[in-house]
Amino acid sequence: MFDSSKQALIDALSTRHGKAHQLWQRAYNARKEFSGDKIYLRGLVEFSNICAKDCYYCGIRKSNTLVQRYKLEREQVLAAAAEADRRKLGSITLQSGEVCSGEITDFVEDIIKTIKKDFPDLRVVLSCGEQSKETYKTWLKAGANRYLLKIETSNQHLYAKLHPDDNNHSLKHRINCLHTLGELGYQLGSGIMVGLPWQTSAIIAEDILFFKNINIDMCGIGPFVEHAETPLYNNKEELLSYDERLVLTLNTIACIRLSMPDVNIAAATSLDALNPKGKELAVSAGANVIMINLTPGEERPNYALYQRPQESLDKDILSELQKYGETIAYGQGGDSKHFQNKQK
Ligand code: 5AD
Repeated sequence: MFDSSKQALIDALSTRHGKAHQLWQRAYNARKEFSGDKIYLRGLVEFSNICAKDCYYCGIRKSNTLVQRYKLEREQVLAAAAEADRRKLGSITLQSGEVCSGEITDFVEDIIKTIKKDFPDLRVVLSCGEQSKETYKTWLKAGANRYLLKIETSNQHLYAKLHPDDNNHSLKHRINCLHTLGELGYQLGSGIMVGLPWQTSAIIAEDILFFKNINIDMCGIGPFVEHAETPLYNNKEELLSYDERLVLTLNTIACIRLSMPDVNIAAATSLDALNPKGKELAVSAGANVIMINLTPGEERPNYALYQRPQESLDKDILSELQKYGETIAYGQGGDSKHFQNKQK
């Protein structure tokens, strides 16, 4: 049994070298035992980078005037869904900056309905930030299956250092949204960034316990990667090195896998910014979901949450994983086993 007390998590998060490899191996085995032997895929379409939030870490924050803002046409999003279907990715994630308006609610509702009609086998995952209960209900009714709302940090002090102090940025509100999504019946996803300035192992341990407590079905874990056009760039010198951030991210993935062995864990794209083999390493430490970017090429550079490395070819990662002996779950929706177990 894995001890997921706070102190044991802190100790596990702090392991390095050979001990860290043992932790990852244990998590990898737990993934195989409790979440199946397949790696699931998600097509990702970043349909808009327009955002009302001003998070200090994020490259598409409202105040970054250097970003060219875009919103894809309905047909472009549907073309991405068609590609996800054709490539048998099993699911599609519709992600955007946070905008709350009747127009966005309708736009997304229509797209979900159309995807469900044209590609009934595709699972639809939403990642569109904090919305009203009514909007969440509308999208669920339209056919959405899952919602990803990363908490980034569940620690009030750290949250306050990462966000403006105003009504539009409230940890409490974000947590309420997670509760609402869970109650409505979405497969619930959350996540954090690892390697933030001021973030300690104790804070990450609390985040993991927070995830257990709100009973998530899936999560996305990626390293924080500094972006030059954001306020947090001023804290660049205080950050862990890329290698240290990578190890801490992998330890976090492993601890989540061992604490909640039947949840889906996605290897966040920001892993590749630290190491070209970042996602493969995440799989070796317990992750079981890979995102495939389907955002039209001309808009991709505009969805720069962090400084992106040269985009590694998605095809490569899948054949790399297959070389390592992994089986890719083509054509499968990949509902989290945790969610399936909850329904029993
Ligand atoms: N580094 C890594 N991930 C980031 N995100 C935003 N900014 C960064 C960054 N600088 C991630 C967060 C957020 C999502 C939109 O992108 O997890 O929830």
